[in-house]
Amino acid sequence: MAIQERRIIYKHVDEPGYTADIDCYLRNGGYEVLKKALQAKPEDLCKEVFDSGLTGRGGAGFPTGMKWKFLDRKSGKPIYLVCNADESEPGTFKDRQIIYQDPHQLIEGMAISAYAIQAKQAFIYIRGEFINGARILETAIEEARAKGFIGEDICGSGYSCDIVVHRGAGAYICGEETGLIESLEGKRGYPRIKPPYFPAVLGLYQCPTIVNNVETLSQVKHIIEMGGTEFAKIGVKGDTGTHIFGVSGHVQRPGYYEIEAGSATFGELLYDLCGGPLPGRKFKALIPGGSSTKILRFGERFTGKHPNTGEPFDWGVEDIPLDAISLRACGTFLGTGGSIVMDDSTDMMEVIANLMAFYGHESCGQCTPCREGSLWLNKMTTRMTCGHARPEDVDLMKNIADQIEGRTICAHGEAVAWPVQSHYNKFKDEYLDKIAHQGDGRGRYNPNGYPLI
Ligand SMILES: Cc1cc2nc3c(=O)[nH]c(=O)nc-3n(C[C@H](O)[C@H](O)[C@H](O)COP(=O)(O)O)c2cc1C
Ligand code: SF4
Repeated sequence: MAIQERRIIYKHVDEPGYTADIDCYLRNGGYEVLKKALQAKPEDLCKEVFDSGLTGRGGAGFPTGMKWKFLDRKSGKPIYLVCNADESEPGTFKDRQIIYQDPHQLIEGMAISAYAIQAKQAFIYIRGEFINGARILETAIEEARAKGFIGEDICGSGYSCDIVVHRGAGAYICGEETGLIESLEGKRGYPRIKPPYFPAVLGLYQCPTIVNNVETLSQVKHIIEMGGTEFAKIGVKGDTGTHIFGVSGHVQRPGYYEIEAGSATFGELLYDLCGGPLPGRKFKALIPGGSSTKILRFGERFTGKHPNTGEPFDWGVEDIPLDAISLRACGTFLGTGGSIVMDDSTDMMEVIANLMAFYGHESCGQCTPCREGSLWLNKMTTRMTCGHARPEDVDLMKNIADQIEGRTICAHGEAVAWPVQSHYNKFKDEYLDKIAHQGDGRGRYNPNGYPLI
């Protein structure tokens, strides 16, 4: 039998007749979980989230309950909750569907989370380009405020917390949580050095702050509804709940699919739900979780002992279960679930040049390895696609990436390095072959293109 989606977060996304307004949300049981949550003790709600095993859906996959535990509650300073709706990683398009199609799910999740951590004020930091998303959220917030679900004395509980939408200027680095906080404070979005600026201790206005992703905060509603222990039964050990896979690229039915963690394989997702490759084509490569995650090559084998079961595995890409633990065992990450599929018509040199153009453009420039390295890689890979590659460039590219990884303030450094390193490991032969045949009609060749640097 073909695999089934398990829609929790996306239950109403694309549902005929379902609208973003509060009346529709209320007709479908909306804000009932908030009312129930307000009768519980905040620390009990935090415990439910901890027990659920929920991991952050913004990319890094850090346990949400643990992050909430790190909050400095003794400082006496106000606590802030920030929803990260910047969603800029190429290949990732899951959060915006929640915002566009079910904004009250997010607002209810935020109101519950804010009460659980006892935040005095909450913000939604949304990417500047999402003009409609910001408008939809502002309308939804007004509706929720008018009905007493946010603002003063929420549902007569005595607890007050409002939500404000803040539009960013459209920079990838403003999605990094400390860059986001700087931007929210009205400054340039430069990521902060951690330690000491862990947001849970020194965040917005130097106050304890929780930054969570849109999908993460939406999940909180469902955790409180079903209870943390019940939620933890969905998925696999170390990766509970569902994941939304945003599949783009060379498949018949690209789109978003919500899958219980570990309940299916990439092969099932790509063939059963996405309809397989385009006519006459074969899958060649897969970036599993947003453009910064390490690329996988169809045909390669992954072997080892599974961290959860201890069982030996020997998988191709198609056999990898859709969960964070299995993907990590294969040397890559689940990240944001933004899966980019490439078939045998794809030129990998063009792919890396495309990615480096993005990451080079988006480096904030604070750290020398990232600033210089990403620009160098951008120039070099662009030049290579113009037919001016030298065989030694392939090793040089890897060397530059190695010098960036682990030497920067924020993980943008890894986002530059990992694609290059994984391309080198999996497609070096293709690069060298292409270089050896520059100008003989195989691939793009522009002798008047980018000059040698
Ligand atoms: C360069 C960079 C860009 C990021 N962009 C986003 C983003 O657009 N949205 C997001 O939720 N997290 C993004 N993150 C991750 C955030 O820093 C942070 O880990 C996340 O918002 C925490 O939420 P979570 O615990 O719910 O996952 C980015 C990280 C880096 C290094
Ligand atoms: S790693 Fe890059 S993006 Fe991050 S702080 Fe350093 S220069 Fe800026």
